[in-house]
Amino acid sequence: MAGRIREDDVSHVRHASRIDDVVGDYVQLKNAGGGQKKGLCPFHDEKSPSFHVTPSKGFYHCFGCQTGGDVISFVMKIEHMSFTEAVERLADRMNYQLTYDEGQTRTGGSDRKRLLEANRLAALFYQEQLQQAGPAQVGREFLQSRGFDKSAAAKFGVGYAPDEWDALSKHLKSRGFSDGELELAGLTKPGQRGYIDRFRNRLVWPIHEISGDVVGFGARRLSEADTGPKYLNTPETPIYKKSALLYGLEMAKKEIAKKRQVVVVEGYTDVMAAHLSGIETAVATCGTAFGDEHIRILRRLLMDDDAFRGEVIFTFDGDEAGQKAALRAFDDDQKFVSQTFVAVEEQGLDPCELRIKDGDAAVRDLIARRVPLFEFAMKSKLKLFNLTTAEGRVSALKECAPLINKIRDRALRPEYVRSLAGWIGVDIELVREAVGGGARERSIGPSHATEKSSPTYLLEREVLKSIVQFSELALSWQELTPDDFADPELHNLFQVIREKKEGLASLSNLVADAPPELAALITELTVEPMRVTEPTSHFMESLIARLREVSVTRKISELKSSLQRLDPESTDYAPAFAELIGLEALRRSLHEKGLGEALL
Ligand code: GTP
Ligand code: MN
Repeated sequence: MAGRIREDDVSHVRHASRIDDVVGDYVQLKNAGGGQKKGLCPFHDEKSPSFHVTPSKGFYHCFGCQTGGDVISFVMKIEHMSFTEAVERLADRMNYQLTYDEGQTRTGGSDRKRLLEANRLAALFYQEQLQQAGPAQVGREFLQSRGFDKSAAAKFGVGYAPDEWDALSKHLKSRGFSDGELELAGLTKPGQRGYIDRFRNRLVWPIHEISGDVVGFGARRLSEADTGPKYLNTPETPIYKKSALLYGLEMAKKEIAKKRQVVVVEGYTDVMAAHLSGIETAVATCGTAFGDEHIRILRRLLMDDDAFRGEVIFTFDGDEAGQKAALRAFDDDQKFVSQTFVAVEEQGLDPCELRIKDGDAAVRDLIARRVPLFEFAMKSKLKLFNLTTAEGRVSALKECAPLINKIRDRALRPEYVRSLAGWIGVDIELVREAVGGGARERSIGPSHATEKSSPTYLLEREVLKSIVQFSELALSWQELTPDDFADPELHNLFQVIREKKEGLASLSNLVADAPPELAALITELTVEPMRVTEPTSHFMESLIARLREVSVTRKISELKSSLQRLDPESTDYAPAFAELIGLEALRRSLHEKGLGEALL
């Protein structure tokens, strides 16, 4: 074990590391005014940023989960490192040579550090092997056949695992690693006589975590005689968690944040092809399905101001996989569906194949031609019907119309009614009928209908939703009055909720007692997804403050116009003017709490 790091060095590392740079490797930070920066907290799930960084003081703090500290504690927490490891990591980051109290240099250290080092050396070893004459030739030929030259392979650190039982194992043991460490790193596994290399005669892609460290490998079979799977991965290890890894992320993260776009492709070769074609936002899962953990990681990079914005574009090899995934979209919770797109090449080519066949521009074009997930799903279904016959059109309508009712965001439904009519080639009315009540606006007059998409209406609706679903998170909703809701229906609904506060504890009672037209609205608001998935009380308070701000602004303009009509000499003038001043002050304070316009 190394000795203690000298206090002077710790203090130097602490002060010379820019906390916003370090945090910036994990969290997309925005200026928050007053020299502060903020972003989505990496330590808990949130959609509105409560994670603040104060570079001048070198501190971070999350108002959502109350974690905070300096740059060293940040690294400890996010990398699950000990104090010493975190200081070492930061020192490495700025190329600073640490000294230790007992005059020792860095050796030993924890598992994590050793495992990272083993993987780093393994990656270098594989890369060197790819250059060797002999069997590595097959690997080079494979790369060539996939359209990758030497520099492409180097950019991605692609390597070759020799066709021997223990080439890597020997190499790393000569560098001081034990059998136990190599097994723990997933690089070897027990064989009949001692340990053998996990990857043999395979092309290997180093897999980095977001910070850039190599944590494992994906390895492709090169020989027909190889009876193993086409692709092999590092197994779960203390540093390789496949459900939280995205191949290419360390390379793509800056572009993803900048473009607010991420392209999810299926394989390592597709990531390479995409990047080389100019799609620098491409990543792939590592031999596993795209899941919640992956979403969580991407969300942090895609956050903009106060919400998750941007596009997640999936490419699928061939139609079948795409169709399956797309149709599931209607059953999933549809949290991010409005930001989800699909890009599928008509002939079923993946980005790598497409680049070989038609070049870089074709890959860019494929991504540019992405379609919204629902559209893709519906069109996939439509392909099963012969739309040139009346019978085909009728069956297609019967099959697809129910899908529209499954779209949870009701605002999208009328749009898809129109589209579906066009795609099938039937009258809109016919589709509307097939879809039933679900696609119709609840209200009647056309003026009302336009109002329903106004930002104010959406805000009012969001607040009511949050009250119905999460009233316990924000007590300030009780300060609202029905007049804060401009929409008549929402106004009435809030009145009902106000009158029966205890009703929120038992929604079914509330629904039972409400007038029928409101009862439906309540249940609707109960199930409609919030625009943020897991609202924090901070978010809720902001949302409510924002609504009050909008409503106060409305009152202010009414008051101003009545003041204009008043004679300044009249006795009514002074109190009205005082009220105006009061409202202006209230508006300002609400504005500060309300996170401004960007909330929705
Ligand atoms: P090649 O160019 O022939 O390698 O095909 P490809 O890269 O297009 O591979 P394919 O479309 O078959 O697979 C895409 C991705 O799925 C790969 O990069 C792997 O991550 C994963 N994959 C494919 N086959 C396997 C397998 O047998 N096991 C595991 N764990 N993952 C696989
Ligand atoms: Mn493929």
